[in-house]
Amino acid sequence: MAAFVAFDYTNLTAEVKGGIGAREFGEFRPHLRRAVDNFLEDPRGFMRLPHTSEFSDPSEVLAGEVHASGATDFVHVGIGGSALGPIALHRALNHPYYNSLPNRSGPRIHFAENTDPATLAAILDVANLSNTWVNVVTKSGSTAETVANFLVVRGALVEALGEDGYAERVVFTTDPGKGHLRQIADREGIRTLPIPPDVGGRFSVFTPVGLFPAAVLGLDVEALLRGAAQCVDEVEEEGVDHPAIRGSAYHFLMDTSHGRNVRVMMPYADALERTASWFVQLWAESLGKEGKGSTPLGAVGTTDQHSQLQIYMDGPQDKVIEIVEIENHPRDLLIPKAYEDLDGVGYLGGHTMAELLNVECDATRKALTEAGRPNCTIKIGTVDEEHLGYLMQALEVQTALAGSLYGVNAFEQPGVEASKQITYSRMGRPGY
Ligand code: PA5
Repeated sequence: MAAFVAFDYTNLTAEVKGGIGAREFGEFRPHLRRAVDNFLEDPRGFMRLPHTSEFSDPSEVLAGEVHASGATDFVHVGIGGSALGPIALHRALNHPYYNSLPNRSGPRIHFAENTDPATLAAILDVANLSNTWVNVVTKSGSTAETVANFLVVRGALVEALGEDGYAERVVFTTDPGKGHLRQIADREGIRTLPIPPDVGGRFSVFTPVGLFPAAVLGLDVEALLRGAAQCVDEVEEEGVDHPAIRGSAYHFLMDTSHGRNVRVMMPYADALERTASWFVQLWAESLGKEGKGSTPLGAVGTTDQHSQLQIYMDGPQDKVIEIVEIENHPRDLLIPKAYEDLDGVGYLGGHTMAELLNVECDATRKALTEAGRPNCTIKIGTVDEEHLGYLMQALEVQTALAGSLYGVNAFEQPGVEASKQITYSRMGRPGY
């Protein structure tokens, strides 16, 4: 069955005071159409990923080797676009206590992302190093955080397995032709998976960056790609009328013409918390250039109703709240009837937890709308591989297109270079 993902921008338009008028959108439409036509005529590398098995096949084969080796632990080393996609997939699609489950679909997973020694030391405390695989993910092959984490983990693995044993348990996911990891792989006979040169880090979730860990974790990689492919097909067919594409224009206009320069993504599902974090990086690093771009924020409903909602409702008029609503939650629990004599408690009995979550989602949307606070909704059928595949692909399309609307290059990140150079120089990297 096809994925159901609906984008509803009603509350950014006619319904909300200060929203985008029909005439305003009509005048902008030719500009949007040109941007979409250009995008579809010369699509970026990430658009071809869902329709190829070029990257899923080797990812699944290697994941099979990991499983066959009886691996107990899998350490994913990477940062930014080399980590956020796999983390989002894992957190959305696996049991929240996956590592503690007795019957997992793969080894325990640990993400070494930051250079915080407390985290890495903790991973080394719990991983069974004689049965651990390490996947080092860096497209450039020289990101200091990733290389440092790798060197520490390598030291521990060499100690546990010896030089030869260590190399058999390591995978490098990196550029197919260049970079230091490639050199080390050649020198030490380490297995590699490619990150295609024409796909940037934050757009790489459907390359081995996301697909290999997903396969190791036992996720349905084909369903993930099927959902993403459905999105690509619909975008190509509907063009400027595809709702995610129109959404790109709505977010752009809300920022540039209506002063809403903060875009809050608020899924009503704990499982999608890290999907929002993945999106925050995608939007921020792609668009925040030359003084342009709206600032993305992540939130989770209902949790952040008790944390951030106050400022969404009553604070500065600078935000668009984007609710992600789940039609059918993958799991549900009946709230048992009890204390029916207490009116603040008893009324909940007989309802379900998912019903309460979705009622609160709708209540927040209504409250925001009535308070004149622009909001929109992405509604997805459920949280599974196919729906997530569609959602992530659609958000990538929306971001890439927003880059054209803002007139910035969504595929570079010059702003993060300066601190890298200073770090290299202070840490003694030759040539800096
Ligand atoms: O989206 C991006 O391009 C960045 O966030 C990179 O993924 C991040 O800086 C890590 O780079 P690399 O994969 O080269 O280690």
